[in-house]
Amino acid sequence: MLYEKRDGKAYITLNRPKALNAYNIEMRDGLYQVLGAVRDDPDVRVAVLRAVGDRAFCAGADLTEFLTAESPTLARKARWDRDVWGLFLSIEKPLIAALHGYVLGSGVEMALCCDIRIAADDAQLGLPETGLGIIPAAGGSQTLPRAVGLGRSLDMLLTGRWLTAREALRARLIDRLAPPAELSAVVDRLADRIASLPALAVASAKQAIVRGLDLNLADGLELEARLARRLVN
Ligand code: COA
Repeated sequence: MLYEKRDGKAYITLNRPKALNAYNIEMRDGLYQVLGAVRDDPDVRVAVLRAVGDRAFCAGADLTEFLTAESPTLARKARWDRDVWGLFLSIEKPLIAALHGYVLGSGVEMALCCDIRIAADDAQLGLPETGLGIIPAAGGSQTLPRAVGLGRSLDMLLTGRWLTAREALRARLIDRLAPPAELSAVVDRLADRIASLPALAVASAKQAIVRGLDLNLADGLELEARLARRLVN
């Protein structure tokens, strides 16, 4: 996991290109650490999640560690101690995912914890968990339907079918496409734009939309009013 800061932007970079950036325990610990830095560092106004290597953003959970947890109790405790996905989803600053190549399993789930997903048009996205006898456990069964709706989520999860970048755009699993050679420039421009806006207003807009989606309309309007007051007081 690489972490750098530049002009109000934080770059979190998955860095296991030989294993197609498969998500392993070391990566989980690194991610937990850098997400804490993004949350707590007032200099960071927006963060970009991206990956090294030309073949993959992330080919899912590391299959060499698959089902090797010592016991369900210890696995649950580790998850409790280091709730990466809870931390991810609690960050008030905008997060951008820059996706390319294979984006599978936890790769998709990490992307779904981000607010704006931009993919190179060579990306392939899928959730192969059911084929492995498991279900997504990094929030995917909840975050996916919030992004793409019920029918498409079931289609992806029940069949394990992968989507091309173009299909993912149509399904609203990603928000924008870019030619592979231009992905980082497109993402940078977007991050620069967000970093140039008033940070508290940006964070409040994100909260109003993201938290509001899980509320009924009356509670959502109350949330909006509360966040709006925070900006003028
Ligand atoms: N966990 C651990 N290692 C992985 C991995 C994963 N999820 N995905 C790829 N790798 C490793 C391979 O073992 C291989 O390592 P090696 O060079 O030491 O043999 C290297 O990454 C390259 O992968 P390879 O399978 O040779 O590339 P490919 O182009 O033939 O196939 C994929 C690419 C993504 C189709 C294939 O690697 C794959 O199906 N990976 C598993 C996807 C998956 O089921 N993820 C779990 C989701 S829950």
